[in-house]
Amino acid sequence: MPVVTTIEDLRQLHARRVPRMFYDYADSGSWTEQTYRENTEDFRQIRLRQRVAVDMSGRSTATTMVGQEVAMPVALAPVGLTGMQHADGEIKAARAAERFGVPFTLSTMSICSIEDVAAHTDVPFWFQLYTMKDEDYVTRLIQRARDAKCSALVITLDLQILGQRHKDLKNGLSAPPKLTPKTLLNLATKWGWGIEMLSTRRRGFGNIVGHVSGITDPSSLMAWTNEQFDPTLDWDKVKKIRDAWDGPVILKGILDAEDAKAALNVGADAIVVSNHGGRQLDGALSSIRALPSILDAVGDRIEVHLDSGIRSGQDILKAVAMGAKGTWIGRAFVYGLGAMGQQGVTRALEILHKELDVSMALCGRRRVQELDRDVLLIPRDFEGNWQTG
Ligand SMILES: Cc1cc2nc3c(=O)[nH]c(=O)nc-3n(C[C@H](O)[C@H](O)[C@H](O)COP(=O)(O)O)c2cc1C
Repeated sequence: MPVVTTIEDLRQLHARRVPRMFYDYADSGSWTEQTYRENTEDFRQIRLRQRVAVDMSGRSTATTMVGQEVAMPVALAPVGLTGMQHADGEIKAARAAERFGVPFTLSTMSICSIEDVAAHTDVPFWFQLYTMKDEDYVTRLIQRARDAKCSALVITLDLQILGQRHKDLKNGLSAPPKLTPKTLLNLATKWGWGIEMLSTRRRGFGNIVGHVSGITDPSSLMAWTNEQFDPTLDWDKVKKIRDAWDGPVILKGILDAEDAKAALNVGADAIVVSNHGGRQLDGALSSIRALPSILDAVGDRIEVHLDSGIRSGQDILKAVAMGAKGTWIGRAFVYGLGAMGQQGVTRALEILHKELDVSMALCGRRRVQELDRDVLLIPRDFEGNWQTG
């Protein structure tokens, strides 16, 4: 068993174990990947202020996210096709999150269905909704999430149309993979993944195959988004969905202060400052750069979370110290899952937790609630002198 000490270690193991098409699907951004790269690079620009001789005993990373207690300010983000990174991947990731004490979010585009994940977990998870043209289907999907006792509804707003990731087109991404000579050649080198995948029946889009009709290729993410996702989604529709859900509603994919205000107006409980991990609008600001202006606009009236680019506990610390109430991780847990299944997700969470805890202590703080901008060294031009219009 290799000694795994960083999320980067898990990424490398993931790349070795999982078929190329699914590794590439996770580890890429749209078009030139500028935003994808800047999500991580911009975190590095912020430095931490070391403090000494401060009593660091009795530390805690515990806090709350939308009223729920969490062991650290981290939620597992919704990730489509997670069950292709490792057999039954959504169930494994949800179990790891549950044992660690952080929320798991199930994507609409998951492999394991809502009911399946609910049947294999004890703690309620969050459900992420993509709105589809078929309104009856959306109503039923929300009801299914309610029946499964999901404790928050996450509405993703930044993907009504799919940002192009070149590798997915070149690899012919599908779930399950189509057995072309190219994929067969690659699968032959991934036998560990293949044996596990043969042992499960969960290999299609569990929440939608059999529930929606009129799709040309049910195994293709691109076909689903092009043919089913609702391009007419607007704030009125968001409000209707918000009102149809009794519990907390989180709006994901906010990158602009004006949209943050609109989210507040429709009655959202929280927003996730996110550019979808650099997978949608290439050229958009990194999330950490967008965060300050959004906090200024709505930070005192709504819970603000952040994702995109988090690869370490120091990144979590920076986002929280900047003012985010919580962070979400996508690839950081997916690399762990692809590398080592449930154990890998647990390892990813342990790594992030330790890095957060130790960095917090070395910044002279004992609780995440004590983190503020005073522990950060932010470049003077970090927010940029951007001009719109
Ligand atoms: C492979 C992959 C699939 C994703 N699928 C979804 C999805 O189905 N729904 C969604 O709201 N976001 C999805 N996202 C975006 C994540 O929820 C999250 O915003 C992003 O991964 C955060 O960036 P990070 O990977 O740098 O942590 C996906 C991200 C990745 C990497």
